[in-house]
Amino acid sequence: MSITGVYKGLDNVPIKETVISTIDGEKGKLYYVGYSVEELAEKSNYEEVSFLLLHKRLPTGEELKDFSNKLMKERTIPNEIWSILEKTPPGAPLMDKLKAGVDLLGLFDGEAEKTDKAARLSTAIRIISKIATLVAGVYRLKKGLQPLEPDPGLNHASNFLYMATGKKPNALESKIMDVTFILHAEHELPASSTAALVVASTLSDLYSAVSAGIGALKGPLHGGANERALEMLMSIKTPEEAEQYVLRELASKRKIMGFGHRVYKTFDPRALIFKSYLEQLSEMRKDRKLLEIANRIESVMIRELGSKLIYPNIDLYSGPVFNLLGLDKEIFTPIFAAARSVGWIAHILEYWEDNRLIRPRAVYIGPGPRRYVPVDER
Ligand code: CMC
Repeated sequence: MSITGVYKGLDNVPIKETVISTIDGEKGKLYYVGYSVEELAEKSNYEEVSFLLLHKRLPTGEELKDFSNKLMKERTIPNEIWSILEKTPPGAPLMDKLKAGVDLLGLFDGEAEKTDKAARLSTAIRIISKIATLVAGVYRLKKGLQPLEPDPGLNHASNFLYMATGKKPNALESKIMDVTFILHAEHELPASSTAALVVASTLSDLYSAVSAGIGALKGPLHGGANERALEMLMSIKTPEEAEQYVLRELASKRKIMGFGHRVYKTFDPRALIFKSYLEQLSEMRKDRKLLEIANRIESVMIRELGSKLIYPNIDLYSGPVFNLLGLDKEIFTPIFAAARSVGWIAHILEYWEDNRLIRPRAVYIGPGPRRYVPVDER
């Protein structure tokens, strides 16, 4: 069979059916199993959203209690894993430490290779729970601090923030962290979910698939953009300077981090939610500098590139929010990974219900068959 035509970047190539989530890129809407993220961010919590994504329906009160309890009980990490991670080079990227941590979790999980539905769901809960502890722990180790014991009295997101910063969050900080986890939980099939799915389609294990997702998320065109967006905001001193910065970068044909999206051709709805929390947090901290710079960049970008349908994405406002929560930029993408673990796994479990090995083709454009020339004759 001759293969022609290349779907570069797999733009608009569907590779599975799903009931987990859908994006309306024209209207700037995102739904998890039919529920809008705006409503989930306002009324739900990460535990409930995780149940929703894994089971494709909202839990009853009893089911939610049971699920939250299971997540809470799985938070600890074996000490052997901490001692290995403690010996990794201090300067190595946190995403690489996280990826190594997830692989180690797989090695230490005696149930990792089990393939029945119940075992896979238990493994899923273990990963979603422990990955947050891993992120907080590798962050602290990198700062020369010891990982903290999880606090069973706090929900998933608040406990994460506590384990990362060592401080119990107040009500607004708690809500923002929960919303962060909800908004990063799922997003159909970006590069990281696709990478995880490719691994899972070979019937490899969940840890290997999640580890692949982390590798893909690390890149600056995907999850890594949040760190870069904050670096940009922090390098600019005033809103006036922000305007000059954008014009200079665009004139040099450089991309502005936190803008543009393969699917959204208007505002990313998650960006708007983060923006409103950035406003509240800036008010609480009495520090509006990053907000004002981000606002100016947004208006200049829309003026300059709105005709190309380039609008803010989630990463423009998530970075300054994390910064005001007291988190260093190197933990931003790992937080994204911790929250997204449930989306990756939900897609994998759905795909495994009717698995087909993902094996695309390449269009060969090289030389025709020819004789091998030994090295001393070349
Ligand atoms: N700044 C300036 N110009 C841009 C930007 C940007 N951020 N994004 C796209 N463009 C321009 C691009 O140069 C191109 O112009 P032209 O037609 O003149 O060549 C046009 O818009 C189309 O862009 P594209 O790169 O072909 O679009 P894409 O669908 O391949 O890219 C993207 C999507 C996210 C990779 C890209 O917008 C980008 O690199 N953005 C900056 C990085 C970023 O913020 N990433 C986070 C994505 S959201 C979080 C996540 O889900 O991971």
